[in-house]
Amino acid sequence: MEGKILVLPGDGIGPEVVAEAVKVLEAVGHEYGHRFELTYAEIGGIPIDKYGVALPEETLRLSRRSDAILLGAVGGPRWADPRAKVQPEDGLLALRKKLGLFANLRPVKVFSELVDSSTLKPEVVQGVDLIVLRELTGGAYYGKPKKQWQTPTGRKAVDSMLYSEMEIERILRVGFELARMRRKKLASVDKANVLQSSRLWRQIANELAPQYPDVELTHVLADACAMRLVLSPRDFDVIVAENTFGDILSDEASMLAGSMGMLPSASLSMIPKSGSRTFGLYEPVHGSDPERAGKNVDNPIATILSAAMMLQYSLALYREAEAIERAVEGVLKAGYRTWDIMSPGKTQVGTREMGDLIAQRIA
Ligand code: IPM
Ligand code: MN
Repeated sequence: MEGKILVLPGDGIGPEVVAEAVKVLEAVGHEYGHRFELTYAEIGGIPIDKYGVALPEETLRLSRRSDAILLGAVGGPRWADPRAKVQPEDGLLALRKKLGLFANLRPVKVFSELVDSSTLKPEVVQGVDLIVLRELTGGAYYGKPKKQWQTPTGRKAVDSMLYSEMEIERILRVGFELARMRRKKLASVDKANVLQSSRLWRQIANELAPQYPDVELTHVLADACAMRLVLSPRDFDVIVAENTFGDILSDEASMLAGSMGMLPSASLSMIPKSGSRTFGLYEPVHGSDPERAGKNVDNPIATILSAAMMLQYSLALYREAEAIERAVEGVLKAGYRTWDIMSPGKTQVGTREMGDLIAQRIA
């Protein structure tokens, strides 16, 4: 089979980690007889420098023609001035919104080889296998009004955590469906004790629940969820949360897996169905880590696992996706580590070496 993949390396370590994921995809193509057609385009800081925009029209056009997008990271101190008219992150936010990628899946699966890499006790993180399902195109990220202004008594600023019934219902449905495919537990996150948008969220969750009688729905306040993620993370199966809560909780959850460098993500525009191909954007949860960019040290596994999610959801290549996961596990078992997951007695390797080791295991 063939797949049209748009590659957006982006800023900082983006190009380095994406290169390793491409290496692994090529190994998969070679081994299983697929032809992946890769096209490269720009997003983030580089097009800001060149043309003053974070998401060029050309990138958007190519996105719409592809089966899937593989993205590295955007952002860096060069473009981080809060007074700047446009920031690299705007490119990513516009891409998510324009492509309707409202469902962001962030699986957190703890590899048993890495239970000692977490700052949490091994007995707490051992066996953790959860998904943070984050609403990605609504809430405070996009809601209007969104502005800063001058008043006689000083400056003011507002963001609006705005949600429509349609937006809440469709992400909750993805949550119920995902739970159905897993251990059938859905934890719906809100702050219904304080926020109106959360009260609507909770009502809609309760209204949908009878349609999914096989799924056990619980409501968890966002602050309590943050606490329970470090107290007893194994209790969770699927966690569904609005955009901002999901952003924060997924960074927290990544620490269960030992490092942000281990966490992949998929952003989809519909409920993924087994056996069919769903357009999606795949990216590591970590950022552009400008301090280590160009040094061949950062962990490419999050991006490589994102490529595995791409094979699974956008190309329906399940064996191939599993082969990547097994290769990652094999390399970790063999004792290879990048700096972020390094522990005594293991062999420390760089970005490229980690990519080579994983690609070799596919063959
Ligand atoms: C993420 C990132 C982005 C977000 C930034 C880079 C805009 O933190 O994907 O989690 O806040 O959504
Ligand atoms: Mn984030």
